[in-house]
Amino acid sequence: MPSKFLVRGLLIFFFWLPFGAVVSHVHAEQFVTVLVAYHSMTGHTEKMAQAVADGAQSVPGTRVRVERVENVTAEVLFSADGLVVGSPVYWSNMAGEVKTFFDNWQFKFGVWPEFKMRNKVGAAFATGGQVSSGKEVTMLTILAAMLGNQMIVVSDGGAFGASATTEGKSPGIDQDELADARALGKRVAEVAWMVKRGEIHHAEAVQ
Ligand SMILES: Cc1cc2nc3c(=O)[nH]c(=O)nc-3n(C[C@H](O)[C@H](O)[C@H](O)COP(=O)(O)O)c2cc1C
Repeated sequence: MPSKFLVRGLLIFFFWLPFGAVVSHVHAEQFVTVLVAYHSMTGHTEKMAQAVADGAQSVPGTRVRVERVENVTAEVLFSADGLVVGSPVYWSNMAGEVKTFFDNWQFKFGVWPEFKMRNKVGAAFATGGQVSSGKEVTMLTILAAMLGNQMIVVSDGGAFGASATTEGKSPGIDQDELADARALGKRVAEVAWMVKRGEIHHAEAVQ
């Protein structure tokens, strides 16, 4: 005859087992992390970065981190669920600092051959002095680097991401441009949640 303590212990164990599984499931789903990484010399792209972060933060359960590209570590990069990269336009393309950031994914962080950024959600934003002098190329080259890393790229604010014109007849960053940047951050957080929930359900389905 099993002792009453053993029976009680077994009852408690089997009662808590499914509950524990539910609790760990909830913990795994509790938050997603969005990293906003940018380069900025005179502050315009930084202002857009903050608005992107505000948009991501508006999605419940989202943790947001804003870093200049040179300060992003491998741990910060690889633990993010979503990544939004911003650059000023330099000669109709992304700034060298942002290109170096992408190149360092391999040189410093060893992103390949495992494709460590695979299935993270990516997006781009840019600021440029002139209306039509490279903002879309800048965003597209950022997205191209993400696609090469098998990330899932999304847009909002504009067709290729959020952008702002900062010189001439449109100096600084206006409210519409900030709203575009917030919309982009919100979209990245929302899709990061969709991917995370999908991964959890997929893992449960194949168990
Ligand atoms: C070296 C250099 C090249 C630039 N080339 C372009 C360009 O090709 N097209 C453009 O629209 N703006 C160009 N600009 C202007 C910047 O993109 C613009 O001022 C930007 O908003 C600066 O961002 P920041 O304030 O975050 O540094 C250039 C600026 C610099 C310093």
